[in-house]
Parts: sequence; C-alpha cells; structure tokens
Amino acid sequence: RYDATPYLPARGGLPAHQRAAADCRGCPLYRDATGTVFGRGDPHARVMLVGEQPGDQEDREGLPFVGPAGRLLRKALDEAGIDQDGVYVTNAVKHFKFTRKETGKRRIHKQPSLRETLACRPWLMAELRLVEPELVIVLGATAGRALLGPSFRVGTDRGTPMPLPDSEDGTLVLATVHPSAVLRAEDREAMYAGLLADLRTAAGVL
Ligand code: URA
Ligand code: SF4
Repeated sequence: RYDATPYLPARGGLPAHQRAAADCRGCPLYRDATGTVFGRGDPHARVMLVGEQPGDQEDREGLPFVGPAGRLLRKALDEAGIDQDGVYVTNAVKHFKFTRKETGKRRIHKQPSLRETLACRPWLMAELRLVEPELVIVLGATAGRALLGPSFRVGTDRGTPMPLPDSEDGTLVLATVHPSAVLRAEDREAMYAGLLADLRTAAGVL
C-alpha cells in the first residue's frame, strides 16, 4: 500500500517535516521527480492554498507555484485583496508526476492517481495541523479529493465556504478551479473571472 506515514517525523515543526519529506518514498512518484516540493509561506498563515502537485518548473526549483500557474494565482490573490505574504501555499501531492512523449523531450504533467493522492495526504494533514489556517482554499480536483473526499467535483463544490471535514477548530474550506485549468481553458477570461469571484468570497470570510 502507498503511504507516506512511515516517513513523517514523530515531532517537530514545518522545517522538520520539510526535511523528512525530502526522503519520502511513500509512493512511486519520488523515483522520476527531481525532489520533494514541500509547502512554503507564513508558518502561521490565516489562509492555506492547496494545489495539485508541483509542475515542471516547481520540480526543478524545489518550490511550489513558482511557474506560470503561480504567476496567475498571485495576480488573482492580489486582485481579490488577499495578502500574498500572509498565506501558506502547498500541494496535495509533493512530487511531480509526468510523462515524456519521446526520450529527452519536454516533460508533460500527468494527474496523480487517487492512490498517490491519498498516500501523500499525511504530509498535507501535518501542514494543516502545524499552520492552523482559518481558511483552506482548495485549487482543483486533486486537492478537493484529498480534503473533501473522493466524490469531490469542482463544478458542483466550488465557491461555497464550508467546514473542513474532521476539523475541530472551525477551519473553513472553499474550493475553486486550479490556476493551471484557467491557463488551459478556451474561455480563459470567463474562467479567470470565476476564480477571482471565488477568491473574493474567500477574502470575505476572513
Ligand atoms: N500547479 C500546482 O498545482 N502546484 C504547483 O506548485 C504548480 C502548478
Ligand atoms: Fe511521498 Fe508524496 Fe512523494 Fe509519494 S508523492 S513519494 S507520498 S512525498
């Protein structure tokens, strides 16, 4: 069974978890990726954003949301009035999953499976426990499945704040589209407007 649990440190804060995650072999995704991409940001952020998995650039730099999706996300957060410096950003899955069309060619993003997503979930739960955000913003289906269950659908579950399941301290969760989906969309402007509307709703509950 795939599971990151044996690799989690018994104690320690975010830095200890980040160091331990670098050696995680809880599922096969560590094999082909450059390295683990852990979350980063304000360790006591009121808002935690959860994406899917690192992309090509994130994998090479070892940091979440440093590529095109991250640029779009920062622009949207800024327009929604959510302070960039006060957030913590991470991903549901911490290694980059990809295929290559031909050897040596461009790496093409592949969606992580539910098994891989659930295997990696202990890292995300540890980040939640340590950061203790007031609001978790779920970006897309993979993060939604990790935090809201396997039947999560962006189309029906987005835009409405709700209590984070299994959270006893009143943490809220709000789902929206993934910034990469905005970049890929045919009607990019409409989808960006939807992302922005959801982020404004998020800003309103803070
Ligand atoms: N997409 C994600 O979900 N996460 C990143 O860090 C980059 C792109
Ligand atoms: Fe561990 Fe997650 Fe990487 Fe799999 S994707 S090896 S569970 S850190």
